Amino acid sequence: MCGIVGYIGTEQAAPILLDGLEKLEYRGYDSAGLAVYDGQEIQVMKSVGRLQVLHELSHGGEKLPGTLGIGHTRWATHGSPNNENAHPHFNKDKSIVVVHNGIIENYMKLRKLLLARGYEFVSETDTEVIAHLLDYYYKGDPLEAVLKVMQRVEGSYAFGILFREHPDELYAVRKDSPLIVGKCGHGNIIASDVSAVLKYTRDVYFIQNEEVAKLTKDEIHFYNIDCEELEKESTRIEWDVNAAEKGGYAHFMFKEIHEQPKAVRDTISPRIRDGKIVIEELGMSEEELAAVRKIYIVACGSAYHVGVAGKYVIEGMARIPVEVDLASEFRYRRPILDENTLVIIISQSGETADSLAALREAKRHSGVTVLGIVNVVGSSIAREADHVMYTWAGPEIAVATTKAYSTQLVALYLLAMRFAGVRGTIGEEEMADLIRDLQKLPDQIEMVLANKERLQRFANRYAAAKSVFFIGRGIDYAISLEGSLKLKEISYIHSEAYAAGELKHGTISLIEEGTLVAAIMTQEELYKKTLSNVVEVKSRGAFVMAVTNLGHTDCEKTADYVIYIPKTNPYFTDSLAVIPLQIFAYYVALAKGCDVDKPRNLAKSVTVE
Ligand code: G6P
Repeated sequence: MCGIVGYIGTEQAAPILLDGLEKLEYRGYDSAGLAVYDGQEIQVMKSVGRLQVLHELSHGGEKLPGTLGIGHTRWATHGSPNNENAHPHFNKDKSIVVVHNGIIENYMKLRKLLLARGYEFVSETDTEVIAHLLDYYYKGDPLEAVLKVMQRVEGSYAFGILFREHPDELYAVRKDSPLIVGKCGHGNIIASDVSAVLKYTRDVYFIQNEEVAKLTKDEIHFYNIDCEELEKESTRIEWDVNAAEKGGYAHFMFKEIHEQPKAVRDTISPRIRDGKIVIEELGMSEEELAAVRKIYIVACGSAYHVGVAGKYVIEGMARIPVEVDLASEFRYRRPILDENTLVIIISQSGETADSLAALREAKRHSGVTVLGIVNVVGSSIAREADHVMYTWAGPEIAVATTKAYSTQLVALYLLAMRFAGVRGTIGEEEMADLIRDLQKLPDQIEMVLANKERLQRFANRYAAAKSVFFIGRGIDYAISLEGSLKLKEISYIHSEAYAAGELKHGTISLIEEGTLVAAIMTQEELYKKTLSNVVEVKSRGAFVMAVTNLGHTDCEKTADYVIYIPKTNPYFTDSLAVIPLQIFAYYVALAKGCDVDKPRNLAKSVTVE
């Protein structure tokens, strides 16, 4: 999984490429590289580490003159992060150069064939195969060579390609990895996603699977794999350019934590009209909604945790059985799906390889309806799902998700309420209360955010913790999963989430003097049960941080540190209780001096299996 940018126009390419790559660093950041063509020679510059290193090495791009170029920021898959493996990759006589995002699954076979034909490899990457294969097929017509390569390679790819013999052309190709084309005043640009081009244009074209784009400085032509030219309409992107920048906050994560009230409001408000839940994009009639017998929620990472919470909410409100699956499991476990099944794929990026594969697995079963809950407009999952419900979180840059998670949660609340309304499992009065509580959430999130200083003092004390446990029952268990993930992904502190009742079946043996246990207790019906578990860990020396509803002052008798959240409907407490856990993780990571926005070994958009 990597980021790609390409430019052809009248401006110097390198600064534009570096600028675009900066926006795409969330896709990978172990090395970066540029190839710029000045009409004489294609010059390549690469560096291991963050983009900043390449920036300095190239003097902000000045060392690479030319108005045509491609750039890449890498997240290693084949071969360790070093200069040889960094992109771009050349063919032997340096007349063809390529950047790639994705995985060429049959690269070993192709590599063998090419070795037998005398080609030599300088890297361990699957990508280098493409440079040599292009060389093998190139007989003067780049498009012909590109199409032949597409027929030979298996796997996922987005390529940006330059040919020395064609100084006025840039080629872009994709299959199962994202790539868009933007038209700006001074030329044309390609990128893995729109955030990299927003500074230059708002009008973008989406390249579909197995399509090629040929860009000159004035024109863009699209072709399918049969070399037929395609007509395409551009899409206008309405995102705010500043929304993709840090806007005064020290980290994207902190900025995004603070954007949650707005993101949640933006996701809820268009779907409540005249006191009713209206989800037009669902594209399902009331009869079809009523006919759903089973729901699968499939996702990865935090989006999966949204699914775990969603199960409690949908089953509770609408009385439809829900199964929640990790996409990487679902795709291979031969799920049993029929025409009364709804499969919900949740994904911020809309590009997560396992989630996309799970979507395709679901679509193989005839009659199954697939709904995507997606943040990135026009992403692969959005395009391939039968229906899409967008979360309006805006671009999320920090690797650890916060605002996308919160918007996904409310999207599921809305769905659960819509189902409950149609199926009559919730009466009118209760529905009106739910809608009122839902609409209050953005302000209540704001209230929780206002208490962050107190949390910072507490987090500073726990920066040296070795291990932390998060416990809860029901929805509080779902919250625990997310709280634990947030902490471990950005602070590198080992942490585990446990269903509170399960703790005594093993994990309690790990509790020792001073171990921090975060007990989530927002579910009134389960409050006393979890409190008993708190007593159990306390008596083994744990230090307990509790998150509970305003008014539960009795909690202070047992827990050592209590965080209160405003009162809301029990179904919605995740939206409030997760906020202090995000803030806690952020401050712990900050106190430890971790790279909050780009934690080690992780990437924002996981487009490989
Ligand atoms: C990565 C990110 C997580 C995210 C997961 C799923 O692991 O670090 O924050 O939850 O991918 O991503 P998606 O884009 O499908 O929501």
